[in-house]
Amino acid sequence: MTTSSVNALPDTPCYLNGEYTALKDAKISVLDRGFIFGDGIYEVVPAYAGKLFRFEQHMARLERSLTELRIPNPLTLAEWRQVSLKLIADYVEKMGAAAANGNQLIYIQISRGVAMRDHPMLPGLSPTVFVMVNTMKLPSEQQREQGVTCVTADDFRWEKAHIKSTSLLGAVFSRQISVDAGALETIMFRGDYLSEASSSNVWVVKDGKVSGPPKDKLVLEGIRYGLIEEMCRAAGIDFELRRISRAEVLAADELMLSSATKEVLPVTLLDGQPVGNGKPGPVYAKLYAAYQQAKQALSS
Ligand code: PDD
Repeated sequence: MTTSSVNALPDTPCYLNGEYTALKDAKISVLDRGFIFGDGIYEVVPAYAGKLFRFEQHMARLERSLTELRIPNPLTLAEWRQVSLKLIADYVEKMGAAAANGNQLIYIQISRGVAMRDHPMLPGLSPTVFVMVNTMKLPSEQQREQGVTCVTADDFRWEKAHIKSTSLLGAVFSRQISVDAGALETIMFRGDYLSEASSSNVWVVKDGKVSGPPKDKLVLEGIRYGLIEEMCRAAGIDFELRRISRAEVLAADELMLSSATKEVLPVTLLDGQPVGNGKPGPVYAKLYAAYQQAKQALSS
């Protein structure tokens, strides 16, 4: 990293191993296993006007990821909430009214800790705990009105995609395929079956019914998995999780992406071909409206 890019790091607040500091001053060891092996996990939690969205569900997934890696959870649910809310408050104070009215994104990363390089899951290390906050950038009006473009690719990632691991080189390669093609996301298939996109889940609508891939080890169970199911049930929209073939994806009436920052987002062009009639569809419109209502209902 050059000196100028270090200087360009923001002066915004972050939390590192029990201390609150400026992001530009936060430092970890070169022997951190997150750096050496990508031996860690992360979470990305949206906050609307300072209110954490689906926080318990995000923390439950963080716990599941940590359990898979045999890393003890370094903080309690209450402590995670306290750190996140303090960072948001400090950030809003520092950035002023624009940030106060805007939405924030909390990023949490936990690595196994610092040790001489040795592959096994060394027990007893003190995990490295890092939390930062930023302004959340939501999709543009134009993306919502016109839908977004995606490309397809083989899912060449590993077989533990259900862990929200910081070993993300597969996701980086996958995402770059869409960047190179001038598209927003890369929708991946394992053989003939839909898995997910590089950093989003994928939903198929056919004859008014919403389908998504099963919650197995080949996809990350996005926090929006549960939310989309709840919203479908409430709106009387059929919902199911099952294996979805490539042919079904290509013949979909509507396709949608979901993630913390995309919420639900319509895909209208896939590999250069229109999805359905090439416009965001009625099921998307209903789910997007329901999502906005869920945000309105935030109380803490
Ligand atoms: N990505 N699948 C993958 C591979 C992801 O990386 C993500 C989220 C999702 C959607 O999960 P959720 O609904 O909980 O955001 C699905 C985050 C936002 C990221 O890596 O920045």
